[in-house]
Parts: sequence; structure tokens; C-alpha cells
Amino acid sequence: MSELVALAALATTLFLFVHNRDLNTKLKEMEVRIHPDITAHQMISVQSGPPARPLTGVRSTMKLLESTGEMSLLNPDNLNNTKKAQQQIVFFNRVPKVGSQTLMELIRRLSIRNDFGFHQDRVQRVETIRLSPDDQASLGAMVSSYEPPGVYIKHVCFTNISEFGFPEPIYINLVRDPIERVISWYYYVRAPWYYVERKIAFPDIPLPDPKWLKKDFEHCVLTGDRECRYVQGEIREGIGDHRRQSMFFCGHHPDCLPFNTEGALERAKMAVERHYAVVGVLEDMNTTLTVLENYIPRFFEGSSDVYWNEISRYNPINKNSFKPPVSEQVKDIVRQNFTKEIEFYEFCKQRLHKQYLALKLPDKR
Ligand SMILES: *[C@@H]1O[C@H](CO)[C@@H](O)[C@H](O)[C@H]1NC(C)=O
Ligand SMILES: *[C@@H]1O[C@H](CO)[C@@H](O)[C@H](O)[C@H]1NC(C)=O
Ligand SMILES: *[C@@H]1O[C@H](CO)[C@@H](O)[C@H](O)[C@H]1NC(C)=O
Ligand SMILES: *[C@@H]1O[C@H](CO)[C@@H](O)[C@H](O)[C@H]1NC(C)=O
Repeated sequence: MSELVALAALATTLFLFVHNRDLNTKLKEMEVRIHPDITAHQMISVQSGPPARPLTGVRSTMKLLESTGEMSLLNPDNLNNTKKAQQQIVFFNRVPKVGSQTLMELIRRLSIRNDFGFHQDRVQRVETIRLSPDDQASLGAMVSSYEPPGVYIKHVCFTNISEFGFPEPIYINLVRDPIERVISWYYYVRAPWYYVERKIAFPDIPLPDPKWLKKDFEHCVLTGDRECRYVQGEIREGIGDHRRQSMFFCGHHPDCLPFNTEGALERAKMAVERHYAVVGVLEDMNTTLTVLENYIPRFFEGSSDVYWNEISRYNPINKNSFKPPVSEQVKDIVRQNFTKEIEFYEFCKQRLHKQYLALKLPDKR
């Protein structure tokens, strides 16, 4: 949570004392939302998400593959990394702000239905997504210490635990349109439930500066504010860079640090190709669920049913009401600098579509 650290440095302690009473009022107001189910309101509604752009669905991938002659060569076996697993542990190194709360809730329910262990990392004061080799080895040991079958969930960069002598787990993850994600993250750290929740967990973290809270994304981009500048090759000091989802696939190597570079993109793609059983796509939840059910059946059997009949019926699966709309013009400005991120997202989407098409299911759409 790099922004949080920046935020903690910016906000003055004085502000905290002056606004203690305000905090209490805010806490009261938030109580109702926080208590019943802390996770429910953080979920992202798939239906209310951005409309899928035309010509990017399974059908367009099919047309593309037909035109290159690859369609008839698709074979689920060649796209099935689940077979490579040496332990029945699913390692979900979830990316923030891609709807992974929803997938996590699905897995929690499936753990009861399909009888497997559910393990989740605690909320960290400072979320460290890049680890030293020693810490990667410790993580490998921990993941491998759970009784199989089980699922382990943590915000962390792809960790190749086989490098440290541990058996290969079943890696999964979820991605989202990178521009929508960066906007979502921007408003997420400004939403009251986010900082109030942090305040409850870590009382000494100061509350954010009201001026910072009110800053809107469009203004931030258009004025060239440092927070909304995305410069090729730039490295932001300190802990993990949450502006990029490819970081969660690239791994812990120093080449993964500079923003929007070819080297980081290639590493991320390679990790997906070699290690990930399934990387789902938020904008295409139905395809994601079908692929999970078919490629990792021991864990994900019944996903579509549970998702549509239990989870999506949950009422206000969070839509951040503090998130104002962002114009296409501003999104396009950001898009111009997110070229490798967009390429990575399209790569994951195409792979998911290939996995789906390889199943040769009767067309239900
Ligand atoms: C992960 O580690 C294994 C064993 O050292 C190696 O063969 C594989 O290439 C590594 N994967 C990546 C993406 O670096
Ligand atoms: C995009 O990148 C260019 C060149 O690196 C930089 O000058 C510009 O400020 C960046 N724009 C945004 C919105 O990050
Ligand atoms: C996804 O599946 C659900 C349940 O089967 C269906 O109601 C919905 O229309 C589907 N959505 C899309 C975009 O295909
Ligand atoms: C993929 O491999 C797993 C583990 O061997 C198996 O359970 C699953 O049915 C396979 N899926 C496909 C589509 O081949």
C-alpha cells in the first residue's frame, strides 16, 4: 500500500487531534457498513463494471484463431498447468482492485462445498508485495505447510516456490482492464471505509489530509500531479508499486521494477504461460468461472452455480460511491502510457479465451 505510506507522511499529526471528534462520528457512521461483513462492501459488482468493449470477447478470439488456423489445433491438455502441480495447494497471489474480493468469497464458499482448507494472509500495516529471497523461501515453506487440498491467499508478487525446492502449487489470479483498475485504486484509498478501517486496525496512522481526499483523478492527470504521472522506466522507491498489475506476475526480480517496460512484460507473460493454471478476467466472469471449473475441478466445481445463485445476488456488492466518472479523454491520456500493461491484460484475456475454446463446449451464449 505505497499510497498509504505516502499518505501517512503527508497528513499532519495535528490534524488527527483536531479531528478526533470527527473521527468518532465517522466511525459511528461507518459501523453499520463495517460490521456485518467487512468484505462485502469492498467487492466489485461485475454487472456495474465497465461494459466489455465489443470485439474483444471469446468470439473475436475465435475468429482470430480461425483465421490463423490455430483454432483446430487447440488442445486443453497443452493449456493445462494444473497437471504440473506437485501439491494440491492453490496459491492465489491476489492483485488488489480487480474484484479479487469477490473471487475470494467464492473460494471461501467453495471450500465448504468442495471440502478443502481456506487460508488467507492477515491485513498488513504496510503491504509488502516484493520479498527478499529469504522471505520468498519462507513463504514457500508456509504455503507448503498447509494440509492439502487447500487454498492460500495473499497480496504478493508471483513467487516461484519451486526455485527454493518446494513442490509446485496451483497458481491462480485475476486481472482487470488496467486503466479501470488504476482509477479504482485511486478512489479506493480515498473512500472513508478504507481509511477508517485502517484507523481501527492501526490507530497511530494519521488520518489523511482533506485536500488530498478531495483531489479528483481527472484533475490529477490533467495537471501532471506526481501521483498521476506514469512515466516509462520510472521506479518508485520503497515498497510495491500498486499501479501495475503485471508486477504481481513478473515476480521479485529488479527488472520488474521500472514502469511499463518490455523486460517486465516478458517476465510476467512467461510466468503466466509456465505456471498459472488460470488467470481470470474480471470483465469476463462467465468465461473465467467456466475455465476454473474445467481446469481446476477439484477446487472449482460448482463455481458458476455458487457465483450466480449465492454471491451475485448479494445486494450491494461494492460499488465505490465515492468514485466519480472519469472521461474517456482522460482515460486515453493514461492509456497512452500504459501500453505494456494493456498488452499484458490482452495476453491474459486471450489465454483465458483459448482455454475456454479448447473445451469445445456447446455454445450457450
Ligand atoms: C521457476 O523455477 C523453476 C525451477 O528453478 C524454473 O525451471 C522456472 O523456469 C522458473 N520460472 C520462471 C517463470 O522463472
Ligand atoms: C506519459 O509519459 C510521458 C513521457 O514519458 C510523460 O511526459 C507524461 O507526463 C506521461 N503522462 C502521464 C499522464 O503520466
Ligand atoms: C453469465 O451467466 C449468467 C448465468 O448463467 C447469465 O445470467 C448472464 O447473462 C451471463 N452473462 C454474460 C455476459 O454472458
Ligand atoms: C487439467 O488437469 C487437471 C489435473 O490433472 C484435471 O483435473 C482437469 O480435468 C484438467 N482439465 C482439462 C480441461 O484438461
